[in-house]
Amino acid sequence: MYLQSPTGKQRPSAKAGARGRAMNPRIRDWRAQRVWVIGASSGIGAETAKLLLDKGARVALSARSAALLDDVASGRQNALPLPLDITSHAQVLQARDRLLDEWQGIDLVLVVAGAYNEMRADAIDMTVVNRLIDLNLRGVFHCLDAVLPALIRQGSGGIGIVSSVAGYSGLPKALVYGPTKAALINLCESLYFDLSPRNIGVYQINPGFVETPATAGNDFAMPGLISADRAAHEIVSGIERGRFHIHFPKGFTNWLRFARLLPYRWYFSLIHKVTGL
Ligand SMILES: NC(=O)c1ccc[n+]([C@@H]2O[C@H](COP(=O)([O-])OP(=O)(O)OC[C@H]3O[C@@H](n4cnc5c(N)ncnc54)[C@H](OP(=O)(O)O)[C@@H]3O)[C@@H](O)[C@H]2O)c1
Repeated sequence: MYLQSPTGKQRPSAKAGARGRAMNPRIRDWRAQRVWVIGASSGIGAETAKLLLDKGARVALSARSAALLDDVASGRQNALPLPLDITSHAQVLQARDRLLDEWQGIDLVLVVAGAYNEMRADAIDMTVVNRLIDLNLRGVFHCLDAVLPALIRQGSGGIGIVSSVAGYSGLPKALVYGPTKAALINLCESLYFDLSPRNIGVYQINPGFVETPATAGNDFAMPGLISADRAAHEIVSGIERGRFHIHFPKGFTNWLRFARLLPYRWYFSLIHKVTGL
């Protein structure tokens, strides 16, 4: 059975072919995969990169801290450190060129880089607003611009973008972080329409609280907190199964997904009750 895609091409329906009920092509053997992890020097990105290296993938490791990328690579032949600042379009394009020279193609790009900052309505700081938009949002577009032409030319591969449950709906203290992550959720949905008919996977990745340098300074209770290693396993297993929406830990993320369906009056009152904010 075939569906008509917006590009006019025919594509197999979700029931047909190797995908089964998966929304994206499945990855069964990482040894043939060339993966670019951007934001691989610490936390979720570093653990995901290490797991993929252990599974035998070739993994390019990007972030600003070259020394930390070398630690993640720890001399493994299948690791390729490629330091860059994601907020620099030129640096991302340069790294992409180097990667394609080296690998002649790319199978999966994971954009993990991002940062959190608390912000409330009585303390808007434009320096922080611009920094987070540049890093969490514009940086992702730099990566899309760099890799999508190659993926589309190949007619294969995939792109995963790490957003956050903070993007599901507005939360206290997330005045700028929340909107950047909400934009990424919307971006993944829009990308799916264009890339799925071309056999390119899109993975929208929404972690709950994960123990990383980014959350180490949080002075509030983090419900459902998990380790970065567990987050990496959730991400890799979601991609292997061809999931579009990869979210974890389910107890916490499903609670938030339910909350966002409530009428606003109930939603605001519930979140206020739970957070005290
Ligand atoms: N931890 C959580 O609870 C949680 C929950 C939901 C979503 N997330 C998301 O998960 C992602 C990873 O966060 P994490 O908790 O693992 O934090 P982390 O340990 O601070 O990792 C952030 C990564 O992004 C890289 N990065 C930051 N600025 C960059 C830049 N300008 N250019 C290139 N790379 C840059 C960092 O490397 P360098 O500093 O070396 O550049 C690092 O590798 C983020 O997008 C975050 O929003 C985290």
